[in-house]
Amino acid sequence: MGAYRIAVFASGGGSNLQALIDRIRSGELPVQIAFVLSNNSKSGALEKARACGAAAYHVSAQSEGGEGKAVARMTALLDEHKADLLVLAGYMKPVPSEVLARMRNRVVNIHPALLPAFGGQGYYGHKVHEGVVARGCQYTGLTIHMVNARYDEGQILLQRIVPVPPGSTADEVGALVLKQEHAWYWQVIRAFATGAIRPLPGDDPSRAADVSDFLAALPSGP
Ligand code: GRF
Repeated sequence: MGAYRIAVFASGGGSNLQALIDRIRSGELPVQIAFVLSNNSKSGALEKARACGAAAYHVSAQSEGGEGKAVARMTALLDEHKADLLVLAGYMKPVPSEVLARMRNRVVNIHPALLPAFGGQGYYGHKVHEGVVARGCQYTGLTIHMVNARYDEGQILLQRIVPVPPGSTADEVGALVLKQEHAWYWQVIRAFATGAIRPLPGDDPSRAADVSDFLAALPSGP
């Protein structure tokens, strides 16, 4: 059997992608990066992908000459590069339904808050942490979840709590959460690669993957 292959979609700086690259290099994450795709030609994620020798593509409606062509390119790349798992790492666009159908129950995302709090419409990037601070939350965290057509509502695979120190700014909260994202995302992806998390057949979004072995092996506590 060949190596487990992940495609990574990212729009921004790509620190989560870099954290995965680092764990692949250290031998802790037994996967290959099939390719990295960004809707943003200036994305740091594309640079980071190229720097490690991974295939990197800018794909957007603009670059391809229409939304339909961009979707066709995405599914073609997933086929051509034989991606086993689609990892969203700060991808700011909705994943087209054709891509979700092609990768059914094999798309994961990381969200920088404890869903369902601070998720959905309007809660992306810095806005999430602004919301947490404005509301006076004493705890926030991260959520790694399966992606279905209703973006932030897929089955939750892992959540971790991050305490909010009194008086923190949104930037400070964001930095604390991001550090934990880097510590945890690779572990969930490793669990897919090793079979500790198993995608399930079927269309029930609440039963997209069997995560019981993975959770049983985690240290207890948040
Ligand atoms: C992360 O906070 C992630 O949770 C969210 O987008 C951000 C991406 O950051 N979905 P980076 O590009 O990986 O640095």
